[in-house]
Amino acid sequence: DWTMAEFRKTKIAEIREQVGDGKVICGLSGGVDSAVAAVLIHEAIGDQLTCVFVDHGLMRMNEAEQVVTLFRDHYNIPLVHVDAEDMFLSGLAGETDPEEKRKFIGKAFIDLFEAEAKKIGGADFLAQGTLYPDVIESVSFTGGPSVTIKSHHNVGGLPERMNMKLVEPLRELFKDEVRVLGRELGLPEVFVGRHPFPGPGLAIRIPGEVTKERCDILRKADAIYLEEIRAAGLYDAIWQAFAVLLPVKTVGVMGDGRTYDSVCGLRAVTSTDGMTADVYPFDASFLTRVATRIVNEVKGINRVVYDYTSKPPGTIEWE
Ligand code: XMP
Repeated sequence: DWTMAEFRKTKIAEIREQVGDGKVICGLSGGVDSAVAAVLIHEAIGDQLTCVFVDHGLMRMNEAEQVVTLFRDHYNIPLVHVDAEDMFLSGLAGETDPEEKRKFIGKAFIDLFEAEAKKIGGADFLAQGTLYPDVIESVSFTGGPSVTIKSHHNVGGLPERMNMKLVEPLRELFKDEVRVLGRELGLPEVFVGRHPFPGPGLAIRIPGEVTKERCDILRKADAIYLEEIRAAGLYDAIWQAFAVLLPVKTVGVMGDGRTYDSVCGLRAVTSTDGMTADVYPFDASFLTRVATRIVNEVKGINRVVYDYTSKPPGTIEWE
């Protein structure tokens, strides 16, 4: 893509100019944006960049390994992998309020990130994969006065605390353009084409209390759902698809026994920027197949429902 090839060149020059011989630290979330930002910055300044991946244990099936493999093996970009599952899960224990969950995760993330930055002797710059919609979301969401719908998880506040300047090479881009740039930079297609995943991870897909057991149940259901979506060739037609584990138990029957287990919600939407979204209209036979597989294969779930709410009035995530 000619335009992206130009963009890449221009941005690399800009990053070099901005950073000089300073040190840059970049937090990887496992998503496309931070990965593209990191690879671009690495191309510009090489070893002056350190990437940190704070693994909060709220990732999807095999996701953490994929990120680590991509950076260490495919790109040979040094990566600090912080395994913080216990810390996050113990902090979330007993918490059921969506905003409190988000705030705890955001703060814990910043604390861990800051500790890692100190270990490498500090950094002059913080790199982020901020996109254009992130820049304007709070203003444009309602068209009226800015209202906080959800406190977004990012490393806001950290630059001031640590006296760092921001490097945000993707600020002018929309998601589809970031994907084009990612391809231009040679990121594997399975990674570039991935659906967005929120910073607070599975915690906001488990309304109510988050536990390791509930995360494991959700990971299995989510993996089955996505496997079926890929098998049906629908993955790229959908902006985001995921399973949600509800804090509700219902009665069911399996074999000749009564079950009393959790409900799983399925969500799939189309969108161009995440600010508005439409429900993806699966065939009934597809949903039946997924529901049957989840109830048969995932212990702890005995009922599956499909979310038919567009955004607005719903949000994409459930918390
Ligand atoms: P909502 O649920 O607000 O989500 O309709 C819109 C898009 O943003 C993602 N999302 C987040 N992304 N940190 C992120 O990086 C967050 O805290 C966060 N909350 C929601 C969501 O997955 C959807 O793509």
